[in-house]
Amino acid sequence: MIAQQGILEEIVNLRNQALGEIMQAENTQSLEEIKIKYLGRNGLINNLIKDIKELSEPIRKQIGITVNDTKKTILNEINEAESKIKKEKETNFDPTIPGIKPVYGSTHIITEAINEIEDIFKHLGYVRRRYPEVEWDWQAFGSLNFSDNHPARDEWETFFIDKSASKKFGQMLLTPHTSSGQVREMEITKPPIRMINISKTYRRQSDASHYPMFHQFEGLFIDESASIANLKGTLEYFVHNFFSEDRKTRIRPYNFPFTEPSFEVDISCGVCNGRGCKLCKEGWLEIGGAGMVHPNVIKNGGLDPNVYKGFAFGWGVERVYLMKTNVGIDDLRTLYSNDIRYLKQF
Ligand code: DAH
Repeated sequence: MIAQQGILEEIVNLRNQALGEIMQAENTQSLEEIKIKYLGRNGLINNLIKDIKELSEPIRKQIGITVNDTKKTILNEINEAESKIKKEKETNFDPTIPGIKPVYGSTHIITEAINEIEDIFKHLGYVRRRYPEVEWDWQAFGSLNFSDNHPARDEWETFFIDKSASKKFGQMLLTPHTSSGQVREMEITKPPIRMINISKTYRRQSDASHYPMFHQFEGLFIDESASIANLKGTLEYFVHNFFSEDRKTRIRPYNFPFTEPSFEVDISCGVCNGRGCKLCKEGWLEIGGAGMVHPNVIKNGGLDPNVYKGFAFGWGVERVYLMKTNVGIDDLRTLYSNDIRYLKQF
């Protein structure tokens, strides 16, 4: 049996104790803690009256009134102390103290290069596109005229992500090149097509000049007529605007399954102006692939190769950026190390 007098005395003690702590509290955080300690659902006051049920009705009533009064008093004191602390904080504010400078973010240098590439091709009427990075074998290889045993399909080059294959489209993979957007573009756009597909690409390679994720930009031009001269003019326009007017371009015969004829494109070396130096050896630097779109690819895109012709090119964003800026990045992987101190330099 609990004694009524004992409880009432305890309540008064708790109240005094609480008011003392409130007076000493220095911040709102400790006031909050006091509130929980005394007034919380499992706080000291509620704990004290847990067994009140055992007392008779009139006594319970009296204790109830005292408890409510006490809670109200403690709460009032907490609220008052809180507004006092807040006010003090405001009056202590010194507007002459220099502020803390916010850290400004900036775009990654590769994002800047992508924006610049997009801008240059926009002037020639090209539309920026993005296609899935998780793609079927069909879009990445099959539709592009790759034979079944082409080395690029080798697991060591391409990330295949699912062993189970669709009958129609083959296995799923991470796009190893942006050429995978060619057939998708033909399927949704009625010629004339001028696409610039700039996306992430993935290959199983990692060393100073390769990172498993990199970027490519893929141009695709499809119309009723298209010539190698048109292709060369387009590449030259890009090179003059991205690098400088005095850089020359040349195309060399090469072999890609999805273009016929196929070329590799070189630009004159910016260090020796094409005379030949340690960097370029003979005055030229290789920059990427290009060619006239193979009739089979046009057919796979759902268009009639007797009516439509086209050219395409696919170059690496990191590669052209490093060639342009000569910033002396000797390990491509550092671009994606996410070290702000490093990236801030550019
Ligand atoms: N997809 C090729 C690669 O990643 C580059 C390429 C070559 C793209 C020739 C093209 C092209 O569009 O016509 O190596």
